[in-house]
Amino acid sequence: MAEKIRVLISEDEIGRRLDEMAKQINADYAGREIRLLCILKGSVFVTCELAKRLTVPVTMDFLTCSSYEDGTVSNGDVKCPMGLSQPLKEKHVLVVEDIIDSGKTLSYLLEKLGEEHPASLKLCTLLDKPFRREKEVHVDYVGFQLKENAFVVGFGLDIAQKYRNLPYVGVVDKCPENVQA
Ligand code: IMP
Ligand code: MG
Repeated sequence: MAEKIRVLISEDEIGRRLDEMAKQINADYAGREIRLLCILKGSVFVTCELAKRLTVPVTMDFLTCSSYEDGTVSNGDVKCPMGLSQPLKEKHVLVVEDIIDSGKTLSYLLEKLGEEHPASLKLCTLLDKPFRREKEVHVDYVGFQLKENAFVVGFGLDIAQKYRNLPYVGVVDKCPENVQA
């Protein structure tokens, strides 16, 4: 079946919201340096776009973390195979996520990162599906709360590794092959 992507949040809307979030983060972290922690692969776009808007000093690190295989439902088996390149001890760590769904990935990851004794540990996400939460997670900065229970793609988010490069956030609508998409 062919797939058609319906735009949910446009590139402009994302840019404007990231401007607002960065303004808040710059104020909250005034006089401090942020260690931005990008959760690969999904949050690579939001991490870079946010980083470009930050005026406080920033260092960056990258971590692979996932609880999905190639499907659309978390299997709860969180895997974080790639280690950090620099220690987090006494750093002001801001974890950047693409989307928080069940909360399983982040509740596991935040507990692990807390064991590294950062000076502070906060969480920023572009998208949030609070109605899907199975594990409680405190989110400090949220771009957009999704209202509909749809699987979204674009701006780093994928379905079976596809559509990460879309500059907007969209919903995949399946449509029959013979219908003009
Ligand atoms: P959680 O552990 O269920 O909160 O899953 C969080 C991760 O699942 C995110 O970092 C995404 O990689 C992925 N995910 C959750 N919902 C979606 C979606 O709607 N589209 C694409 N990826 C998603
Ligand atoms: Mg992710």
